[in-house]
Amino acid sequence: MVNSQQVGSILYKKKIVLGVCGSIAAYKAAVLVRLLRKAGAEVRVILTPDATEFITPLTMATLSEHPVYSAFTTDAETGTWVNHVEQGLWGDALLVAPATSNTLAKMVSGACDNLLLATIQSARCPVMVAPAMDLDMYSHPASQANIEVLKQRGVTIFDSEVGALASGLEGKGRLAEPEHIVEALQNWFIQRAPLHGKHALVTAGPTYEPIDAVRFIGNHSSGKMGFAIAARLAELGAQVSLVSGPVNLVTPHPWVQRTNVMTAEEMHHACTERFEAADLVVMAAAVADYRPAVQAEAKIKKSTDAWHVDLVATTDILADLGRKKRAHQILVGFALETDHELEHAKGKLQRKNLDLIVLNSLNDQGAGFGHDTNKVTFIEKGNKISNFELKTKSDVAVDIVNKMIELWLLKN
Ligand code: CTP
Repeated sequence: MVNSQQVGSILYKKKIVLGVCGSIAAYKAAVLVRLLRKAGAEVRVILTPDATEFITPLTMATLSEHPVYSAFTTDAETGTWVNHVEQGLWGDALLVAPATSNTLAKMVSGACDNLLLATIQSARCPVMVAPAMDLDMYSHPASQANIEVLKQRGVTIFDSEVGALASGLEGKGRLAEPEHIVEALQNWFIQRAPLHGKHALVTAGPTYEPIDAVRFIGNHSSGKMGFAIAARLAELGAQVSLVSGPVNLVTPHPWVQRTNVMTAEEMHHACTERFEAADLVVMAAAVADYRPAVQAEAKIKKSTDAWHVDLVATTDILADLGRKKRAHQILVGFALETDHELEHAKGKLQRKNLDLIVLNSLNDQGAGFGHDTNKVTFIEKGNKISNFELKTKSDVAVDIVNKMIELWLLKN
């Protein structure tokens, strides 16, 4: 269940390895874990052996909802190994808070005599440190030189703050307030979210066109592809409007605002309302091309006679948006074809004024409705064609969004 603080939080689902050193400020790391969890981040805590003197693994394990490690083995008798490489590979970021003068110096020298230092050395994710020490230690040339070296090596410093220190003195050196660290971490991620500040509109799923009170014309679209695209756009920082037909899927990310619709007409209305504000638009819905000319209010009784339902064309939403498209907008459509695939897809690209069309052929195994995988071909304006292997729909979504970013950068 997503809570209100996670809505719009860039930290949602971010994986944070939190290293805690032996400092009196270690108690604040408990608050830090709480705030990170509230913002939707997943947190794994590594305590240095000295940190366990200041805060218990039980406290941190309870707050992070994950076992806490402080040694290279969890069981001295059986020698169960804690894989520091795996910890470092898991994280989107490794944050050391509080970072003591001792740990900063060891990070600089490459000393590696505890699990946290080994994890830092093997981490492929960005490393951040929030120093905490007494004012004279902080201002000591050795500490300042260490911080400088770490900065030059690409470590982000969430600098110490000024205030009362555990020694009774006052000055700069105390751990930045947990709220400030979380804010700085959010800003760090925001600066690296390429779609932050962008609006996206995505359609997904089938439409149901009612015949009478109980029957409808529909199709087998599961909505999975559109939902995966909406999730990916949100992961990269976009505010996403997802207009979905009837599907059995949960909204994939708190930055996705979902509107449920039933018919092509309702989908058209919802898209028209949202189109102007959108920078990036993907129409992944399988919209019915026809609807019954009249909808009977009651249930139509069966008889032995043949039954004819008069159909009229629905609005082609994608074509309509293509006509309204402004120069900065990227508009992407899908084409599901069984024959003359490329030719038909190229025709749609042009007719509907698209920047990209994603072709999936019903002839490919594992592609199309209901599957968790898809095999697609991209056709861009100018008829540049790229073929892709069979992939999970999440991976296809990554490819589609990457291409959209590339096209956006070319236009804007
Ligand atoms: N689409 C739409 N509104 C419709 C029909 C289709 O927005 N009423 C969009 C789909 O979301 C998809 C694209 O148009 O992105 C292609 O849909 P498809 O049904 O394959 O193409 P059509 O243009 O309907 O052509 P045909 O059915 O002849 O293949």
